[in-house]
Amino acid sequence: MARKDADQVAAPARLDGEEAAVRVAVLGCGNVGGALVATLLSDSDAIAQRSGVRLELVGVAVGDPARPRPGVPAALITGDAKGLVSDPRVDVVVELIGGVDPARGLVESALAAGKPVVTANKELLAAHGSALAEAAASVGLDLLYEAAVAGAIPLIRPLRESLAGEPIRRVMGIVNGTTNYILTTMSEEGVSYTQALAEAQRLGLAERDPSADVDGHDAAAKAAILAALAFHCDVVADDVPREGIATVAPVDISFAARLGYVVKLLAVVERTNGTGGKGTDTEVPEISVRVHPAMLPRTHPLAAVRGAFNAVFVEGDNAGELMLYGLGAGGRPTASAVLGDLIDAAHHLRSGSSARFVPRVRPRIRPTDDLRCAWYMNIDVVDRPGVLAAVAQLFGDNGVSIRSMEQVGLGDEARLIFLTHVAREGDVQRTLSGLRGLEVVDHVGGVLRVMGDEEEA
Ligand code: HSE
Repeated sequence: MARKDADQVAAPARLDGEEAAVRVAVLGCGNVGGALVATLLSDSDAIAQRSGVRLELVGVAVGDPARPRPGVPAALITGDAKGLVSDPRVDVVVELIGGVDPARGLVESALAAGKPVVTANKELLAAHGSALAEAAASVGLDLLYEAAVAGAIPLIRPLRESLAGEPIRRVMGIVNGTTNYILTTMSEEGVSYTQALAEAQRLGLAERDPSADVDGHDAAAKAAILAALAFHCDVVADDVPREGIATVAPVDISFAARLGYVVKLLAVVERTNGTGGKGTDTEVPEISVRVHPAMLPRTHPLAAVRGAFNAVFVEGDNAGELMLYGLGAGGRPTASAVLGDLIDAAHHLRSGSSARFVPRVRPRIRPTDDLRCAWYMNIDVVDRPGVLAAVAQLFGDNGVSIRSMEQVGLGDEARLIFLTHVAREGDVQRTLSGLRGLEVVDHVGGVLRVMGDEEEA
């Protein structure tokens, strides 16, 4: 596709004895922007050697230009992001401001001016990714965002390119390092959620207001981006039902461990028609996309992902199972992914090409009630004859099959730990409401989905 307006961009500066440098503007100089700027300033020769393209930093737009930024020449700093984007000396724009505004307008302006864009902005992509990807494709330009999901892990490019022909069934990811750190600490040190969160805050892994991470907003934005890419769908963060980790109790983590499971916050995107013998790929895709804590068998590859690490587990009809693992956050790891995109964008700019774009359709989102998985439930009941029969009757009446049950004595009470077979979520929710209404049930405690060892009743 011809690049519209490409002739409006001034020719890149040509250095002696080598091809012209590709001139880069960086918008935002926080954790990731700062690391990228430092690398571009200090490693230009090494990058040129490794990648075959010389990148020249020509400007850095920041919110507060008066703030000292050691190591960054003052001449590069500007408070005028809009002016920098339209500066004819700029060939490629890197957007690292975050949030929807003003990032969206700046990305649109860059594309309209014929400049490819690299961004790490998950909020922007999870809200307007499809429109921006179309805008970029319509002018034959790159909009690259490897760093927007799971930091340093090469994930977007493998999904877009290596797995381009693969009928992907499901992608399950640990895509939030903060919550994975908290759950790992609860599991390995036996501490409460509050204690583990405080430790994460002390280490700088969790924000003072941790809600974006612990309530699943961050993972939901990433899930929307993954679903859009895996299934060529227009999916936004608002499509993603989410449950956070604040209600996960140490007792459920211990029971999970006894039963051979670990608890993880998962972003799950799955195609519920069109693959795996469930229809044809020509149908409007029906997908499920969601974020929730879940129990995974200890033997599942994602179960081994500890601390602040991220990993994404992909299941395809032909490729089978594969997992990508690494650091999902942090300035230098995330800047490493941005740099990879920047080099691609620079090469594409030279060759007049761009990363492939597949038009996206609006999918059907499978209703939550129709999702199927196995469940764990922890229920405190009165300890007397007939109670177990009454509880089991409720499961049966609602079509939920019990896979195992363990009873733990608690004085006059008993704690019943159930694992179900795979069941419809609507049926499980009806069972839970019924249990809450039973006179012999004192308390319905932890309730968790069990993923990764699907076993039909
Ligand atoms: N706060 C995120 C995490 C990193 O804890 O993984 C940025 O998306």
